[in-house]
Amino acid sequence: MDSIIVTGGGELDGQIPIAGAKNACLTLMPATLLSEEPLTLTNAPRLSDIKTMTELLSSLGAEVSSLQGGKVLAMSSHNLNNHTAHYDIVRKMRASNLVLGPMLARLGHAIVSLPGGCAIGARPMDLHIDALEALGAEIELKDGYLHAQAPGGLKGATHELRFASVGATENTVMAATLAKGTTVLKNAAREPEIVDLVRCLRKMGAQIDGEGTSTITIQGVDRLGGATHQVVTDRIELGTYMLAPAIAGGTVECLGGRIELVQAFCEKLDQCGISVEENEAGLKVSRKNGRIRAVDVVTEVFPGFPTDLQAQMMALLCTADGTSVLEEKIFENRFMHAPELVRMGAEIDVQGGLATVHGVDRLKGAPVMATDLRASVSLILAGLAAEGETIVSRVYHLDRGYEQVVRKFSGVGAKIERVQLK
Ligand code: EPZ
Repeated sequence: MDSIIVTGGGELDGQIPIAGAKNACLTLMPATLLSEEPLTLTNAPRLSDIKTMTELLSSLGAEVSSLQGGKVLAMSSHNLNNHTAHYDIVRKMRASNLVLGPMLARLGHAIVSLPGGCAIGARPMDLHIDALEALGAEIELKDGYLHAQAPGGLKGATHELRFASVGATENTVMAATLAKGTTVLKNAAREPEIVDLVRCLRKMGAQIDGEGTSTITIQGVDRLGGATHQVVTDRIELGTYMLAPAIAGGTVECLGGRIELVQAFCEKLDQCGISVEENEAGLKVSRKNGRIRAVDVVTEVFPGFPTDLQAQMMALLCTADGTSVLEEKIFENRFMHAPELVRMGAEIDVQGGLATVHGVDRLKGAPVMATDLRASVSLILAGLAAEGETIVSRVYHLDRGYEQVVRKFSGVGAKIERVQLK
């Protein structure tokens, strides 16, 4: 099993290209199920999760060709021949549940395995089910599978989500594009990945308004066409690499970054004393002198501080001047990285959804274990400034959401390598 060894110390300098967004691509790919016409995605990230979604779509009868080294995905669903998303694939990646809405809308029926438990929280699908039932679907749970059908086709309706869930918004918006009549989705999620999805669906002929706001209106159409769409920049990969110079010192330019994607995050970096400049190429981040200031962080739905940057932010605050309090409000079990950072000499006290981080002068390298995608990269970030070597094991988590992570970090001067340890 692969591990990553980081030798801390030394400022960073250079440029890091930011890839297309995993969480946009994972909802854009199932959109192909809505149409018989080809859908092509450009600027696709090269990640194991994209391979899993490709495997899932292929199992339903869709054709997915990965071109230009994986940066282009040419897809077609003119010949769907299976409407069951099997547990064997779904258990590998929760986002598999994003085929439910499109299949139901296009085929009138779908059988999708429930994903099961996850390291960061229970993550049920009740909000997805409520919304699709509001559009007239009949959904039953049998033997761990959701059996969904809409014999007469889906019908537009007004529905308010109890929580602004990203996945429930995406499934409902996709389903509503082919429903009879108008759907008004209230308390919808506003994440940039949803805006990107709607822009793509509109190119396919969907009639949608309000993306990026809490109310999305979808006027159903009889059929959708094809399109070519460029995947939006990955704001979580962007935020992650912006923290590298913040933690290790120096200046790094994140190519393709835009402040509008990470506004709340940039406000926190500013409070810490980190400078962020936007220019033609992207975002230039630098930390010149002295310790960073402690800040409090609360994770929120967009446009608030993203939960997917909480672990990485904790790595920064471990060596801040003072005490920081991080409150995780989106997932009930997303501090698994804290005990690993404590192994590196951090002082962190976790009580339920609150983590109190008492800044220390310097972390010390140690063997640590990745528990989930964002936790894994937070340990690498912490290792960049730690004394000595940090050995991060179980890095398969990382491959799900970060492409070429060793090349990107070493490209700006980090001492990092991927090894196979017994
Ligand atoms: C998306 O997950 C992202 N994944 C997550 O990124 C991200 O953390 C999350 O949104 C929040 O921003 C993808 O886009 C593939 P939610 P999703 O539905 O859609 C509860 C990463 O690191 N909930 O907005 O699953 C749920 O349990 C991943 O890239 C219900 O209770 O998130 C959670 O506590 C991790 N019932 C909260 O809502 C439901 O039916 C937010 O979930 C649905 C969700």
